[in-house]
Amino acid sequence: MTALASIANQASTNFELRPLHPLFAAEIIGFDIAAPADDAAISAIAGALAHHGVLVFRDQKHVTPEQHIAFSRAFGPLEIHVQKKFLLKDHPEVLIVSNVIENGVPLGLVDAGRYWHSDLSYLAEPSLGSLLHAIELPSEGGDTLFGSLTAAYEALDERIKAKLKPLTAVHDYNTLNKAQAAKSDGLRPVLSAEQAKTVPPVIHPVVRRHEVTGAPILFVSEGFTTRIIELPEEEGRALLAGLFEHQKQPRFHYRHHWQNGDLVFWDNRATIHLATGTQPNLRRTLYRTTVRGPKPTAFS
Ligand code: OGA
Ligand code: MN
Repeated sequence: MTALASIANQASTNFELRPLHPLFAAEIIGFDIAAPADDAAISAIAGALAHHGVLVFRDQKHVTPEQHIAFSRAFGPLEIHVQKKFLLKDHPEVLIVSNVIENGVPLGLVDAGRYWHSDLSYLAEPSLGSLLHAIELPSEGGDTLFGSLTAAYEALDERIKAKLKPLTAVHDYNTLNKAQAAKSDGLRPVLSAEQAKTVPPVIHPVVRRHEVTGAPILFVSEGFTTRIIELPEEEGRALLAGLFEHQKQPRFHYRHHWQNGDLVFWDNRATIHLATGTQPNLRRTLYRTTVRGPKPTAFS
């Protein structure tokens, strides 16, 4: 691919794609999320997402929650997050990710993404992608790391690939949420028994086939993958721990330093991400929509 390739038209505007990292992630230049986009533009963006894993749209400060939601919906149905306290008023499709605490009340999910994870991988139909819009940024810190699960899989040796292909793993929201809630001084609610029932553990293939590119993906993450079905517990735990260490190698990572107005659209099928955090006194707020994806199928 050329460094600066024109990929499609939005209404009558050209937009371009510029890679941000040797392995994945790209900036989309000249696209306005707030403007109506035709089907060709949406399918070009969907294709770019599948091929690049992370798409960065700069200068989208003017985009309203309604426009953010409308653009997100073009890629599939939107999820309403199980943490109901942190949904934007009148727009439950938007999850507020924020470290701001006003009068003891958190504005949003304060500790979102502090473990490597793929959003909603704990659902039977996990997310296709998330769209995170910067609302207020700290003067320093607050970067988000993204990891390519396609590159992570590719780099495994053939013997391990063959071992992983027939395996399936449990993904579970409640295990980590309980641990994080216990540490959060009441800022992250433990789910009620009713709520917890809406996110029961699910099972996904360890090596997933990307629905668009056909590429194999190492679809596990420290945040939500708790055990391997086909292996004795200890052996599965050790295997997962090794895979998590493998994914954590910086060579698979793109570090996103947020700029005012950024909107980042990432592919939850083929990437994981991690919030690196910022000082608690520096305000950081972002709005997230999450697009539902297909039930994963095994790569075999
Ligand atoms: C998320 C998330 C990371 C961050 O919104 O899903 O993990 O850096 N955010 O805020
Ligand atoms: Mn996340």
